[in-house]
Amino acid sequence: MNATTTVQAANIVAALLFVLSLAGLSQHRTSRSGIVFGVSGMTLALGVAAWAAAHDISAAATTAVVLAIVIGAVIGLRRARTVEMTGIPELIAILHSFVGLAAVLIGWNSYHAVEAQDGTQHEVAADLVEVHHAEVSIGIFIGAVTFTGSLVAYLKLSARIKSRPLTLPGKNLINLGALAAMAILTGWFIASPSLGLIIAVTAVALALGWHLVASIGGGDMPVVVSMLNSYSGWAAAAAGFLLDNDLLIVTGALVGSSGAYLSYIMCQAMNRSFLSVIAGGFGIQASGSGETKQGEHREITAEETAERLANADSVIITPGYGMAVAQAQHPVAELTRTLRERGTDVRFGVHPVAGRLPGHMNVLLAEARVPYDVVQEMDEINDHFSGTSVVLVIGANDTVNPAAAEDPGSPIAGMPVLRVWEADDVIVFKRSMATGYAGVQNPLFFRDNSQMLFGDAKQKVEEILQALRANTSHTRRVTSTTPALV
Ligand code: TAP
Repeated sequence: MNATTTVQAANIVAALLFVLSLAGLSQHRTSRSGIVFGVSGMTLALGVAAWAAAHDISAAATTAVVLAIVIGAVIGLRRARTVEMTGIPELIAILHSFVGLAAVLIGWNSYHAVEAQDGTQHEVAADLVEVHHAEVSIGIFIGAVTFTGSLVAYLKLSARIKSRPLTLPGKNLINLGALAAMAILTGWFIASPSLGLIIAVTAVALALGWHLVASIGGGDMPVVVSMLNSYSGWAAAAAGFLLDNDLLIVTGALVGSSGAYLSYIMCQAMNRSFLSVIAGGFGIQASGSGETKQGEHREITAEETAERLANADSVIITPGYGMAVAQAQHPVAELTRTLRERGTDVRFGVHPVAGRLPGHMNVLLAEARVPYDVVQEMDEINDHFSGTSVVLVIGANDTVNPAAAEDPGSPIAGMPVLRVWEADDVIVFKRSMATGYAGVQNPLFFRDNSQMLFGDAKQKVEEILQALRANTSHTRRVTSTTPALV
């Protein structure tokens, strides 16, 4: 087997491992094997690429490639070990920006290797030169949009800039104008490539990426992250065409299409138009910030909450981002076990975008060993709030906001939410009256059946547990049908 055949065979195996990885990652139970397949595929791909490069380039260049891989791996491993669960979306966003930047640099490099030469010194066949011009322009365009779009997503997710949507006058025209400019510049570049045109393509795409993501409101950020994941895949595929690397094309297409499908599913879950979100909030009306206070709220203490829980027949817990910040999942699991031992029916209602990444709450609850069968998705639980004695809203805000269902002018109007307000009593755990991620005031806090339990969620749940244990007179008879929790 010669070197080319070896590389092709290894690439096919790596591509199959990536497909198996995606299949494994689609379910909780198989996700670990999915990661193993992915890491194996990437190790094989990198190893073969370095081995093949060693045949073509000087020893010094090979050393530089290996050094770059080692330095990258050390930084990546360190970041992965130290990142908090709540910081993963912003880490993903910044990593997407690197893919975009790499695609831009590969495009520019390819321009210098082919278009900037005099026509006799490059290796592209004469009948494919125009295809190469198109690949350079499109590759740089997708990469640059991904780069700045991901940077803005990173800044928003890490709260370095406001998550509120930027609403420049004529924002849809700006986006459409940039797309039209891109089409014209690419056509022009194919007909007559020049440095000025490639600078213009890069500048228009950088500005468009920035504007597209800046125009999208906080509530739609989950979709934006998966959409940028998709863009980074297409950027990698474009780089694959320029580098004539089949594996990069296949991998990029897998990431691009799975990211696009995830964005589509998330849009359906949030009742958003897929096209509106990917077009930078096209057609979404910018209404007021929704931050106005809407009445008086009532407060409740941890001891009073314990009292209500002790007398409740049924309890639903709806966790949100604040539970992750407070790391309250372990005391929450303990509270669940204590209540179930007393004979109380306890369930969890998990919103699809609660927290900051898909499945965030499920991961935390699984880590605290809450059994899967008491954890229900929004669609399963939503009809059960009515008739429930007490709902504990632990660090959730946007995902339980009635304005989404009842106020057509709200910035989050139409987003399906957990209908917690239909329960007899709602107790909201948070530290202040601050708004949630979308920056929208929550009328739930001012309803007659709502009470606020202010403070760090972990501390408050621990106080409730203490009060429950201290007051043994509240012990309920344990029914024989109550299953053990952990
Ligand atoms: P949010 O609306 O973000 O609200 C979380 C609440 O937790 C805040 O109001 C905050 O209030 C409270 N909190 C923070 N730290 C706390 C602590 N230590 N103890 C007690 N409370 C604390 O949460 P959500 O309901 O989970 O909604 C998620 C939001 O994030 C949605 O808008 C969603 O679109 C967006 N988002 C989701 C994702 C994914 S994929 N899940 C990705 C990006 C963005 P205080 O500050 O007053 O305590």
